[in-house]
Amino acid sequence: MSATIKLEDKHFPVLLKELISIISPLYGGTFLDCTFGQGGYSKKILENKNNKVIAIDRDKNVFLYANQIQKKYAHRFYFQNIRFSEIDSIKVKSKDLKAIIFDLGYSTNQIKDLKRGFSFKSTGILNMRMGINNFSCHDVISGMSEKNLYTIFKHYGDEKDSKRIAKKIIEIRKLKIINTQDLTKIIDSVKGFKKYKINNSTKIFQALRIFVNKEISELIKGLINAFNLIPVGGIIAVVTFHSIEDKIVKFFFKNYSEVKNTSRYQPNVNKNSICFSLKRKKPITPSSEELKKNPPSRSAKLRFAIKTNDEGNFEELIQKFKKLTDIEELQF
Ligand SMILES: C[S@@+](CC[C@H](N)C(=O)[O-])C[C@H]1O[C@@H](n2cnc3c(N)ncnc32)[C@H](O)[C@@H]1O
Repeated sequence: MSATIKLEDKHFPVLLKELISIISPLYGGTFLDCTFGQGGYSKKILENKNNKVIAIDRDKNVFLYANQIQKKYAHRFYFQNIRFSEIDSIKVKSKDLKAIIFDLGYSTNQIKDLKRGFSFKSTGILNMRMGINNFSCHDVISGMSEKNLYTIFKHYGDEKDSKRIAKKIIEIRKLKIINTQDLTKIIDSVKGFKKYKINNSTKIFQALRIFVNKEISELIKGLINAFNLIPVGGIIAVVTFHSIEDKIVKFFFKNYSEVKNTSRYQPNVNKNSICFSLKRKKPITPSSEELKKNPPSRSAKLRFAIKTNDEGNFEELIQKFKKLTDIEELQF
């Protein structure tokens, strides 16, 4: 258990009020919180005594919070340390499920724990594992070819200096083991000092975190499994933090809630591919009040949909993002 975790740490669950207003009409059943974190969403849902929560998180450190909630709501709260790509293994009566919720990315505790390597201020060995991983960021930086590093930086970070940064990493790792501080120095040395709003290292750190945690396939499998678990009438709600996540979630909800090919030249509309009702096309974003209290919430976007049909075929979703999921399979 990480020594830096304190139960009294201030925690602002992102878009909590907005999420609750979406799911509360369905209160009186079971809610699946796929990204428990510090339990902000779970706790709020459990305040209504007619609700049950099944929560999961890939990070073992969250047991500290899960155990606390377990004591208070013994028969209404269950926690499992699994990844959300595995929610199909959860034993739950589907008909009782009212909503499945994802609040993607890392938690405040994960970024604050400098040993875990999510922050540019981290010290020591490169890590970035959220939990239940096969390798760490250190393995990637010390073993990946220049070409593959470039591919990860370009496609998961959209970093315009990807090529030069990958080249520099290969040069430096011949001389020493690259730790977190070395990596930020390498990035700064390539990019130079610029008065950008975002830190020089933001995009490379995002790219490495996505790769280490296989975040793209996790999300796609998680969404498809959520669809298979939730009954018709149930809600899937997702909070995203970066553009790749948001593109996937937007496609998942929008593509399967709209009748396409309405052209008279292509009249064969596949009604079976319509399995969601979208109440709003635009995402919900934090209010100015929330942004003031919790500035890191600025990139959060909440999208949700109601399931309307049991027949879902998500091959198009899988194919659309195949280039990104293939990158997760790069070897080193
Ligand atoms: C932004 S935090 C969630 C915060 C939470 N909503 C709250 O109010 O405290 C995201 C959490 O999701 C977890 N997580 C990320 N990817 C996951 C995955 N694929 N499977 C399970 N948990 C995941 C992280 O470990 C982290 O604890």
